[in-house]
Amino acid sequence: MNTGMPEEGCPGRQCALRDAGTDGHSVMKNKDIFKEYAGELQTVEQRLMDIFRSDVFLIPVVGRHILSSGGKRIRPLFLLLSADLCGYKGEDRATLAAIIEAIHTASLLHDDVIDSAETRRGKPAANALWGNPVVVLIGDFLYSNALKLAVLQKNQKIMEALSEATTRMTEGEVLQLNRIGDPDITREEYFTIIAAKTGVLISAACRIAGILAKLPEEREAALARFGLKVGIAFQLADDVLDYVASQRDLGKRLGKDLEEGKITLPLLHLLKAAAEKEREEVKGIIRETLAVPKGERTEAGSRHLDRITELFTRYRVIEESLQSARELIGEAKAELAVFPESREKEVLLAMAEYAMQRQE
Ligand code: IPE
Ligand code: IPE
Ligand code: MG
Ligand code: MG
Repeated sequence: MNTGMPEEGCPGRQCALRDAGTDGHSVMKNKDIFKEYAGELQTVEQRLMDIFRSDVFLIPVVGRHILSSGGKRIRPLFLLLSADLCGYKGEDRATLAAIIEAIHTASLLHDDVIDSAETRRGKPAANALWGNPVVVLIGDFLYSNALKLAVLQKNQKIMEALSEATTRMTEGEVLQLNRIGDPDITREEYFTIIAAKTGVLISAACRIAGILAKLPEEREAALARFGLKVGIAFQLADDVLDYVASQRDLGKRLGKDLEEGKITLPLLHLLKAAAEKEREEVKGIIRETLAVPKGERTEAGSRHLDRITELFTRYRVIEESLQSARELIGEAKAELAVFPESREKEVLLAMAEYAMQRQE
């Protein structure tokens, strides 16, 4: 099977994520999917702006900043593509896509406060411009205003899906904080964290399409499992990109996870694969990095990142991590076996590939 993976190491940044399809055959180009849905995504954008509407002037100001900075809008797109798979064409799908993106935006605002991020989407992070207190409160406003709009749908199942997602996302972030700098974190704990912080929202997006279409329970659950697995693979790819992407592509600084003491799959692979002496060295690097005050860049810091990257190459860590993401995408696709083959299904499956490749 041609997986498109490079045979040796990772020559050139991002290379490993490119052409990393799970089944080797060429799928619909992602930019074509985005193009096809551009009109409806415009409607979503409008509704998203509406969720930021308030007489308290700072709220729309911060809203305009974060929304105009970019963002891929993959969660709304997953909802729209899933809705097409289910044959639901009603206009509530754009509203719910906006609600999902608003929840994602709120989580990013809070995440950047927690992580003391300097940049987001290639622009100064909102916390860097307006300070933590304002950004925390605007995140709260967004969460509650999104849910307020969802209540108008008068659909108990949709409310369940959204409130379950927001609750678990917060649990994921808290659990992650709990495990900061802990090299003994298990693979299972890591996957629990990323499923919660990222998987559940994409899962909700796909499931909600099924709810809107009034699908039988079995198909709605299959969509939810598909979204969950895609979301986990998406975060996994993000965790790999944190080490291999260029800053321009990422819109944020390289090696941030290490600086934050976040032990993600690449480091977990390394800790498992490395020889005893190197394992102790890596643990030492994690300890030392964590001791440096947040945001402070030191010469030792970049040396440490270089050393970790070197060990990643030696132990083929990036390839191993991507293999895990690829397997997950394969499992996600299999969840949709209950749906008959169709163009809509093909497009949704192509989007799942994108979640892992993170390419335009
Ligand atoms: C960023 O999500 C946080 C993660 C879950 C990795 P996205 O990569 O979807 O961010 P935007 O919305 O496109 O900026
Ligand atoms: C993702 O967390 C944000 C949420 C899912 C809430 P990260 O901290 O890993 O994401 P980035 O790297 O800042 O985008
Ligand atoms: Mg972050
Ligand atoms: Mg974070």
